[in-house]
Amino acid sequence: MSNSELSPEEIPGDYGFPFFGAIRDRLDYFYFQGKDEFFRSRMRKYQSTVFKANMPPGPFISSNPNVVILLDAISFPVLFDMSKVEKRNMLDGTYMPSTAFTGGHRACAFLDPSEPNHTILKHWFLSLLAAKRDMFIPTLRSCLTDLFVGLEDELSSKGKAHFNSLSDKLSFDFVFRLLCDHRPSSTILGAKGAKMFDLWIFLQLAPLLSLGFKNKVLNFLEDVILRTFPLPPLLIKSSYKKLYDAFSEHATSILDEAERLGINRDEACHNLVFLAGFNAYGGMKATLPILIKWVGSGGEDLHRQLAREIRSAVRSEGGVTLAALDKMSLTKSVVYEALRIDPPVQFQYGKAKRDMVVRSHDAAFEIKKGEILFGYQPFATKDPKVFDDPEDFVGHRFVAEGEKLLKYVYWSNGREIDDPTVANKQCAGKDLVLLTCRVMLVELFLRYDAFDVECGTLPVGSSVTFKSLTKASGC
Ligand code: HEM
Repeated sequence: MSNSELSPEEIPGDYGFPFFGAIRDRLDYFYFQGKDEFFRSRMRKYQSTVFKANMPPGPFISSNPNVVILLDAISFPVLFDMSKVEKRNMLDGTYMPSTAFTGGHRACAFLDPSEPNHTILKHWFLSLLAAKRDMFIPTLRSCLTDLFVGLEDELSSKGKAHFNSLSDKLSFDFVFRLLCDHRPSSTILGAKGAKMFDLWIFLQLAPLLSLGFKNKVLNFLEDVILRTFPLPPLLIKSSYKKLYDAFSEHATSILDEAERLGINRDEACHNLVFLAGFNAYGGMKATLPILIKWVGSGGEDLHRQLAREIRSAVRSEGGVTLAALDKMSLTKSVVYEALRIDPPVQFQYGKAKRDMVVRSHDAAFEIKKGEILFGYQPFATKDPKVFDDPEDFVGHRFVAEGEKLLKYVYWSNGREIDDPTVANKQCAGKDLVLLTCRVMLVELFLRYDAFDVECGTLPVGSSVTFKSLTKASGC
């Protein structure tokens, strides 16, 4: 049915009493039901993929926790339409961390495209990434060599290898080398850069996280400590200064270019630290374990097909090149499928710029100017009305005709068929992220025939432990 054929309905659901409703929803979300059941039970109760509820953190950190929740593939993309939603200070949802985490500046990711600074900063990011593109594959491959050496060493000494710590080191080294042309170990950061970013990110996102205690008392304490008042940026001040100093000293050519574009050098450097630490490192920290987890779950059949495709493309193109990567349709599809089934950034928010109608598959809803829209992406990209067997990891889902479904893959805060621009809020690193995931699989299957992993959950993303790695035959 077209929009005009559906008469707009009132949005089901309620926010409960002020304060108490928000606390009730928050406890359900974190402790009594858990994230997925929180959304699923309400979707069932209201027989609707669009409904009202409160989102954490609520009192006293967010002044207004009331949101309209979007859980299907049709309503979700309203969050990408910059003529309909405002993204100002919406990165973390209904609250914004102190700008003291970023030297007193609002980083690009907190800016709405209508703010002139967004255009200037995003243009700078997009052009610096374009200028560095020839470094992507060689730098990544060099970092991946370190990762696989570490993985093999740990496997042979301990019988298992924790992937996340090696992957975090890879992500930090890669991002720093790309932006600063130096190995972080040769700077004041030594080997501590990744851990410094971990704490800095944690303090900003703490109101949205749960550490997953099984004990009710600890859960109560966690809720009070993480969600009553924001954790103070003072806790990270000296480490953040070191990170800032390292980027300021080594990313000179990028910062010179920012100044040439009219950006104040200090503001540019804080933005660069945010890009490197929150956007790039933080994103890779969540994404790479997710990728390995799902490819691991595909088993030996999928591993054999990937190894065959990857080795044949690399052989015919004479190396790991963009042309070789482009030939790997199964590898590409597997990466999209991991990002579909388990999007690394699960939440997207936007504030309605005007009164409007948002439609789902089978209904239309009246949204008022100023209402906050919240999309929970794992449900939108597992929408059973769009994807067959949405809960299954289907490696070849996006091969050939399957490519038509790419418009329903939203991990980058935009449709997979769209590109980041200064006028939207789509991830500036979209192409680099896809390339990184593909090269990770290429290096894995050039070295090994198969692998076995054990997985668990973390406050953000998955934990992955390698139990075995089978060396490539003839390698
Ligand atoms: C590796 C996994 C990554 C994931 C999953 C990811 C995901 C995202 C998402 C979902 C957003 C939108 C946030 C929002 O407004 O709701 C975003 C924004 C952004 N990302 Fe990424 N990202 C990743 C890596 C990177 C990398 C490597 C870079 C650059 C080197 C980057 C640069 C940015 C920037 C600059 C923005 C803000 C865009 C804007 O304000 O218009 N990201 N990313």
